[in-house]
Amino acid sequence: MKTTELQQLWHKKYACVPAQLAKVREVRTAATAFNTNIDAVLKISGADLGRLISETRLSKEEFVSPRTLLETPKDVVHGIAKCFSRGIAEEWITDDKTVYDWMTKNLGYDRLQMGGQGGIVANALAVLGVQKVYVHTNAHPKLQAQQFLPLDNLFGIDENGHACRAADIDRKQETPLIHWIIEFDIGDSFTAWGEEYTCPKSNRFIATYDPANIDLVINQGFIRHLSQYGYDYLILSGYHNLTSKRHGVELVENSVKLIKEWKQKNPKGIIHLELASTQDIKVRTAVLEKIAPLADSLGLNEREALDALEVVNPQKYAELAHEDLTAPHLFEIVRQIKEKTKAPRIQLHMFGLYLTLQNKDFYLTPEQNMRGMMLASTVAATKAGTGKIEENDKLLWAHGREISALSLNNLQELAAYLQRPELVQTGITDYENLQIIAVPTIIIEKPLTLVGMGDTISSVSLIGAR
Ligand code: GLC
Repeated sequence: MKTTELQQLWHKKYACVPAQLAKVREVRTAATAFNTNIDAVLKISGADLGRLISETRLSKEEFVSPRTLLETPKDVVHGIAKCFSRGIAEEWITDDKTVYDWMTKNLGYDRLQMGGQGGIVANALAVLGVQKVYVHTNAHPKLQAQQFLPLDNLFGIDENGHACRAADIDRKQETPLIHWIIEFDIGDSFTAWGEEYTCPKSNRFIATYDPANIDLVINQGFIRHLSQYGYDYLILSGYHNLTSKRHGVELVENSVKLIKEWKQKNPKGIIHLELASTQDIKVRTAVLEKIAPLADSLGLNEREALDALEVVNPQKYAELAHEDLTAPHLFEIVRQIKEKTKAPRIQLHMFGLYLTLQNKDFYLTPEQNMRGMMLASTVAATKAGTGKIEENDKLLWAHGREISALSLNNLQELAAYLQRPELVQTGITDYENLQIIAVPTIIIEKPLTLVGMGDTISSVSLIGAR
């Protein structure tokens, strides 16, 4: 089949999206935990980056050396330069207030917005129409409250431990938790050490200073609320902020008991874990070994998949670490992760393709998954194209847009690799003991925003799978 014919075929499949959005209103409760913060977003130009490199005297040797922690301002510049030059997304963390002060003074920001998987997903699910959404916040002063959509179905926990509208809460004594989201554009370039580096893909680097999330401070009011009222869906994340230097592994282990209790009280509730970019390998190992097996569903992007592979199968990682992350490679990686963590469902969101692998007895049918994934692709494209998803009647801005040819190429490559040619047209196939659902997406050429996209895709795919 020609690409244009395939595009038409998928266009027809996507016709179910408005009805799918309406069905989200059937979902009674969703809760998100643990990380909510404020994102200070700024766009950095190659010229400004070049200037910061010389001001902080980052050397070429330092630039090419491996590093994932922010201990000095130079590390901040290193992280930005690395991600800019490779067009990749990473998040590095600091617990040093002087680095935070340097960022405040030297980076500034263009705008503030909701940050953290917990906060971003809560806003998304509330605007999509889930009847009640409960969000965990470990700091909820007014500035944080202002990042929540002013919706009556979106609840946080106030200073007295009561659930009330998240946008109205002001836990005055708590400090706003701010992360810098430093975005850069494809084609822009910086010059350093006598060389020019051109950005191959628009992306972002996150520099995080966040004492409460780094220590996984948990709000007791939220725990009580969830234990008492339960949830239909619980979207978990926030472990990626932990570092072994600050007892991250113990913090992961301590939360196991809590999640087990929630599961026991809510045997029917579905738990989804969004892996996120976890730099600390000990923490990443603990999350994959201890938390992932408690989840019904896992979500991750291509980079996070490779990072997870490093832990679950170091030998395979060594083989693939320097290969292109094509759809067939990613399929193999995700399959390994699924096998090792025993997750009943796992969903990868890569550029231009969403791929779900699930057990045959999972509670969702492949068709339900596919509809949820098409809803997610549309909502994500709306977010990319308009910069926000804040009003229910504007969520389908991207509906009816062309399914990208690049996406279809990815899908074709995967279908050929699996020797399942029908996958290109159906999006669904059985493969050994798995059900595979692969959905080509709508791609927005010049996205207005990228941060939080993966969180939105994972949660909307799951909750919209009906
Ligand atoms: C990470 C970052 C947060 C950002 C989020 C987006 O959680 O810490 O700042 O909003 O990723 O996915």
